[in-house]
Amino acid sequence: MLTVWVATPDTWAFPWPSCWPHSRLRWISVWDSRWNTCGGRGALPRVVDLEARVKSMYEPVAGDPFAHFHFETGRALAERLGYPAAELDRIPAEVIASFAGVGYFLDLAGLTAGETVLDLGSGSGTNSFLAVLAVGAGGNVIGIDMTAGQLDKARRLSDGIPHIDFRAVRIDAPPVPEGAVDCVISNGVINLGPDKAAVFSAAHRRG
Ligand SMILES: C[S@@+](CC[C@H](N)C(=O)[O-])C[C@H]1O[C@@H](n2cnc3c(N)ncnc32)[C@H](O)[C@@H]1O
Repeated sequence: MLTVWVATPDTWAFPWPSCWPHSRLRWISVWDSRWNTCGGRGALPRVVDLEARVKSMYEPVAGDPFAHFHFETGRALAERLGYPAAELDRIPAEVIASFAGVGYFLDLAGLTAGETVLDLGSGSGTNSFLAVLAVGAGGNVIGIDMTAGQLDKARRLSDGIPHIDFRAVRIDAPPVPEGAVDCVISNGVINLGPDKAAVFSAAHRRG
């Protein structure tokens, strides 16, 4: 039975019974309305502009994480959202400095040893790093992102860690075979894209 978990940081979280009853894929996604900042009210940008704007918004989050942004970032945010401090202590502080998620869901994900996890819009990798701790040596975590600076940082800081792989690709085209994924996670990302149905559909086929 597939369960889709959709949550916002401050309002609701619910299991979303879907029309995909036999899939073993689980979905954990956290949304917010940050996309509004990409175009302003009443001025939705064209898709090409949107992608460029998203990249230019998140490049400095990777390269200059202590700069001032119009959204919160970093460890203080992660702890406020519910990430256990003891878990955060187990991954590189530099990764967490560029955390830009909007909620905590790894308790709902219930990752277990040996699972394969796909992290859509992995950024600098906070959720991917925590996921790899959960799935262990027998599991795999694939983080995908389209912003070069975020990928560079995640790859540099995961160098030497087996079973974690960061790839440059858009979230509507995950580079994994159909049926290869046990759990899809995504934190503060799907809201940034123009075609959310395509993202859900592509991810569902991986489960
Ligand atoms: C708000 S940040 C969240 C990063 C990470 N999930 C975290 O919790 O720190 C959004 C990330 O999604 C990436 N992103 C947004 N839209 C994307 C898309 N269509 N394809 C791939 N990555 C995307 C951005 O580059 C950025 O790194």
